[in-house]
Amino acid sequence: MSQKIKIAIFASGNGSNAENIITYFNNHPSIAISIVLSNKADAYVLQRTSKHGIKTRVFGRDEFYNSSAILEELKDDNIDYIVLAGFLWLIPESLITHFPNRIINIHPALLPKHGGKGMYGMHVHEAVVAQHDKETGITIHLVNSRYDEGRVLFQAKTPVSPEDTADEVAAKIHTLEMTYFPKTIEQLLLKPESLE
Ligand code: GAR
Repeated sequence: MSQKIKIAIFASGNGSNAENIITYFNNHPSIAISIVLSNKADAYVLQRTSKHGIKTRVFGRDEFYNSSAILEELKDDNIDYIVLAGFLWLIPESLITHFPNRIINIHPALLPKHGGKGMYGMHVHEAVVAQHDKETGITIHLVNSRYDEGRVLFQAKTPVSPEDTADEVAAKIHTLEMTYFPKTIEQLLLKPESLE
């Protein structure tokens, strides 16, 4: 049997997207999640991952930005793609160079709206409510060396009503993320032309 395409997931927090992706690709014929990496030793994503028998790796800022340890480990594991699932640090140039157009991120808004450094999670939904946006959504995009500026692969929208709280917006976004993130990853890896 030919080798599966191998994904490393990077995540900083709760890990609902990471776990959803792990579940989706469990027993997939041609794609496998090999490892989940986190910059936070106590991130809940690590518990979720271990439950599925997938290996985890925690790293600190110095190791990530001032050494090649993570890149070397990804190479040793023959990782083909990186997926950022709620990972909040900027990706170093060395990883971007080694994985050209092979790092995928999800952002909980319709980029270029509500993107950039510091715009993540609830901060995004609070901005949507504060600015009385009539709609919001998710953006799945490739990663370059600037926050939230890589090529957009997919967007899905949801209406925002004037009564919606940030928590209610978050719930709508969560539903979109659960539905579309794994499918879009699969499409990019197996049928990239369908996303152009
Ligand atoms: C998700 O909503 C994701 O879109 C967002 O963080 C959340 C992580 O939730 N990412 C960003 O804001 C990136 N700028 P999770 O840990 O439960 O998957």
